[in-house]
Amino acid sequence: MAPATHAVNSSRVVNIDDLRRLAQRRLPTAVFDYVDGGAESEITLEENCRAFRDVTFRPRAAVALTECDLKARVLGHELSFPAMLAPVGYSRLMHPGGEVAAARAAGDAGTGYILSTISGHKLEDVKAGSKGPVWYQLYLVGGRETAEGAIERARTAGFSALVITVDTPVAGMRERDPRNGMKELLGGSPFAKLPYIPNLLAHPRWLASFLLDGGVPKLENIVVPGKGPLELIDVAAALSHAAVTWDDLRWIREIWAGPIVVKGLLTGDDARRAVDEGAAAVVVSNHGGRQLDCVSSSLRALPEVVTAVTGQVEVLMDGGIRRGGDIVKAICLGARAVLIGRAYAYGLAAAGQSGVTRAIEILRCDVERTLRLLGCPSVAALDRSYIETPPAWSVR
Ligand SMILES: Cc1cc2nc3c(=O)[nH]c(=O)nc-3n(C[C@H](O)[C@H](O)[C@H](O)COP(=O)(O)O)c2cc1C
Repeated sequence: MAPATHAVNSSRVVNIDDLRRLAQRRLPTAVFDYVDGGAESEITLEENCRAFRDVTFRPRAAVALTECDLKARVLGHELSFPAMLAPVGYSRLMHPGGEVAAARAAGDAGTGYILSTISGHKLEDVKAGSKGPVWYQLYLVGGRETAEGAIERARTAGFSALVITVDTPVAGMRERDPRNGMKELLGGSPFAKLPYIPNLLAHPRWLASFLLDGGVPKLENIVVPGKGPLELIDVAAALSHAAVTWDDLRWIREIWAGPIVVKGLLTGDDARRAVDEGAAAVVVSNHGGRQLDCVSSSLRALPEVVTAVTGQVEVLMDGGIRRGGDIVKAICLGARAVLIGRAYAYGLAAAGQSGVTRAIEILRCDVERTLRLLGCPSVAALDRSYIETPPAWSVR
């Protein structure tokens, strides 16, 4: 059961940035920066959000719409609006409700949730907690045998798609984490933790809930044969031996009959390769600017990928979405739907399930208002005629 959370005051929390501020207040610096930060100079992190400003709207005036149809179909699921919740690792550190609370909020809002491999709640509980579609994101941490166990559990529990993240052959260098003593806090000796304890004590609400939840959670879905669930502290090391290759994708194809989504592509060539390997959908993503720094923003990469796959697979995108207007721009550029990451993680960190609900509500209302202001009757009717992009954005 996810712990009860207080409803979020909707007059104080008007946009995603308000949720971010609440998250920053509730979380210790190490946990907030883990969510908020990006790799190295954080150039891609910043560019993901900034790129949306390069795209301007071309509204149709004097159009009266009483209602807009926000629904989108993704891999056969009807979503209440064109956004799902992206896989976000370590969610249980942000709030004890963690992945169960986020999945429940998504399902209640009529949309889907993607569970990260790096999760503190059992995948069966996450699936059971949600009314909506739930997909499982797979890293090959612990090797193929470990992954096979998780895939089998995901199938039995009723997960409807596997998301294979291909941009993480090694964890990105998020410089805020070592500065904040993230590793020491997760598993170091009490002596190594000492310098970071005052900051934890300065966040008593988070600390109390973390301790009541049993402290650092184990990774319940990475069960290494003969060893049991992996410790959180071991993840970065394990990831560096877990690069997913096209060969692995072929192997996964053999043992998973359902749809496969390839997440973490930025070029037309890679997207075509994913199509050839049997993907049902691709996610244009740079992992929220947390992996290789100085790659292009996801939005900028989207048109190239859409052109390359020629409608053979569904194209999703994520990175930098903080407003519903951002979602509308991505759809105009050819995305079927988007994934939101930090936007809901801030809500989870601020107030558990009700914070995620508020994040979704903010974005959904934004999308509806934007459509009406554009004079567009439905998400399905959005196309490039509603936006203008810089000349350099024309597809290669
Ligand atoms: C705290 C955090 C943890 C993440 N963990 C994972 C993960 O375990 N697996 C994965 O495929 N992507 C992970 N991502 C990337 C997200 O799925 C998504 O690509 C990214 O957050 C989108 O950018 P945005 O945060 O600007 O919306 C994580 C992102 C954040 C912020």
